[in-house]
Amino acid sequence: MEVDSDSIIVIRGANGTLHALHNVCRHRGSLICSEPCGQVSRLVCPYHQWTYDLDGTLLACRGMPSDLDMSRFGLHRLHAREVEGLIFISLATNPAPFGAAQRALAPLLKPQGFRRARVAKAADYLVKANWKLVWENNRECYHCTANHPQYVKANFDHHNTDDTTPRVREEIGALVARSEKKWAVQSLAPTHRQTGMTVFPDAGKDIWFSANRTPLVEGWVSESMDGKQVAPLMGDYQNADVGTLRIRTLPNFWNHSSCDHGVSTRLLPAGLQQTAIRVYWLVHENAVEGRDYDLAKLTPFWRLTSEQDWLICERQQKGVNSSAYTPGPYSKFKEYNVESFVRWYLKRVRREP
Ligand code: FES
Ligand SMILES: [Fe+2]
Repeated sequence: MEVDSDSIIVIRGANGTLHALHNVCRHRGSLICSEPCGQVSRLVCPYHQWTYDLDGTLLACRGMPSDLDMSRFGLHRLHAREVEGLIFISLATNPAPFGAAQRALAPLLKPQGFRRARVAKAADYLVKANWKLVWENNRECYHCTANHPQYVKANFDHHNTDDTTPRVREEIGALVARSEKKWAVQSLAPTHRQTGMTVFPDAGKDIWFSANRTPLVEGWVSESMDGKQVAPLMGDYQNADVGTLRIRTLPNFWNHSSCDHGVSTRLLPAGLQQTAIRVYWLVHENAVEGRDYDLAKLTPFWRLTSEQDWLICERQQKGVNSSAYTPGPYSKFKEYNVESFVRWYLKRVRREP
């Protein structure tokens, strides 16, 4: 995968061990791997054929002096961790400890069965907006009512102007109470119980990961166009009434999952004003297209919602580029997470503790 100007190989060794390596030969710097995916037994540089093991160890470098210390020329490694089937990679020299993220995410992710899920569909987008605009767009639903006609039918977090009208509070309160009872048989529990988006990230505590389960609107069991189930139940679910699982990790990932499918979105910077975005639809490992699900029913909800957002972000990028642009105020009701993201980001670039 390409992260701006960095090229990265994510690969499993023979025993399944996960490795993330910089795709840069330690001889003269050539890219080694140019296929987007595949299987190899060794990584061989196409330039002068230096040959590396799947963990990056240099195995052969014909034509070099025999006293060359090959142990010094393994591929540069990145930090990689796996949580319930999701792979997290850090380009940092000293990444933040991962334990807290693992503890917070794993129990919520496990019942969804991502570890054994299969990809039903992947869609790639090159969006003409800086990745931070795309992320900021994801951190508020101020724009949802006007821009996401499908999304707002299924979800609660969209009511202008401050999310806390008595009617909406009552609706979600009743559903949370009902869900609490029904979900208990599956050992699931609502962890997001109020209208308004979950507070995330926590810039003060430097929390970059978050997951929660919340009810969908009454009558909806899936984030599909009509709210009906569109694929077999995923993971450990025993019935369709599991609400929606939402996961987000900074700086570039979110997932919304229903009982029957999950949709993951990954942002990768591709230059100052471009973001390479991949959206994955995940289904049960044994689900067969045409027999168990139909892509025409599985994909439109999040394809439309995603594409609506890309359009918003591209328009915003153009406006932000104007010589007349100056930032306006955030809504304290609707954009607290955008403000928090900006603080989180500034802490990172200023290397504050
Ligand atoms: S650049 Fe890779 S072997 Fe020479
Ligand atoms: Fe949106």
